[in-house]
Formats: sequence, structure tokens, C-alpha cells
Amino acid sequence: MKDFRDKVVVVTGAGSGIGRELAVKLAQKGAKVAISDVDAAGLATTERLVREAGAQVHTQTLNVTERQAVLDYAETVATHFGGVNAIFNNAGIAHHGEVEHTDFKDIERVIDIDFWGVVN
Ligand SMILES: NC(=O)c1ccc[n+]([C@@H]2O[C@H](COP(=O)([O-])OP(=O)(O)OC[C@H]3O[C@@H](n4cnc5c(N)ncnc54)[C@H](O)[C@@H]3O)[C@@H](O)[C@H]2O)c1
Repeated sequence: MKDFRDKVVVVTGAGSGIGRELAVKLAQKGAKVAISDVDAAGLATTERLVREAGAQVHTQTLNVTERQAVLDYAETVATHFGGVNAIFNNAGIAHHGEVEHTDFKDIERVIDIDFWGVVN
């Protein structure tokens, strides 16, 4: 997709970093953006920046590991904007450390967010 004018674009993990930049750039290109993150404070800053860029925005705190919440969110956004054209599954984490000294729960957390978050 090259022309984002009036397209509805969803960005997860939009409360900082790449997700925030994506949301603002999409807004500047005329998209209507749906932004979410677990970090409500970061998300509020992104919402302000997106509004300043003149875009329509739907904002909701969301944990992408919570499947039913993600499914409900999809319905909410589709109803709010009348459809969705593109999704950036940006929410994610990185884990650094030696496997030998890494707990299974830390690896499970990466898989829960970076894999299941996208599937959800
Ligand atoms: N920056 C890099 O060099 C790099 C390299 C490879 C991959 N990535 C991936 O790109 C994406 C963005 O990276 P970034 O550098 O902007 O990182 P970032 O930490 O600044 O942004 C990630 C955002 O995802 C949110 N998030 C984390 N867990 C979440 C969850 N369960 N539900 C909803 N939101 C959640 C965080 O609150 C944060 O706002 C991430 O998925 C990251 O793993 C980044």
C-alpha cells in the first residue's frame, strides 16, 4: 500500500519507539489511525502527536497477549471506522541474555508477546 490517504491503519505498541513514529507518519500521510499499547501514558503522548498531525485517531490500551481483548478490539475498531485497511503488528519485546542463564518464563513471555500477540 503506497497511498495511505483515508485508509484505516492499526498500529499496536504505539506508545513509544517505532510504533509511535509509524502512527505519526501515517497520520501525516492522511491515514486514520487506531493506536494501542499497554503503556497508557506513552499512548497518550502518541495520541496527542497524531492529533497534532491532523488525523482521526482511535486510542485504546491493549495487551496483545490477551486474546479475547484483542478480538474485541478488532470489532471495536472496525465498527468505529467502518473497516480496517492495514495492521502493523508492532508491539513486541526483546530479551537479551545467555540461554544458560535465562528462565523459561522469560522466553515464554517473549513468545507470548512476539508470537501469540501477532497471531491474536
Ligand atoms: N528497535 C530495534 O532495533 C528493533 C529490532 C528488531 C525488532 N524490533 C521490534 O520492533 C518493535 C518496536 O520496537 P521499538 O524499538 O520501537 O521498541 P519499544 O519498546 O520502544 O516499543 C514497543 C512497544 O510495544 C509495547 N508493548 C510491549 N508489550 C506489549 C503488549 N503485551 N501489548 C501491547 N503493547 C506492548 C511497549 O509498551 C512499547 O510501547 C518491537 O516489536 C521490537 O521487538 C525492534
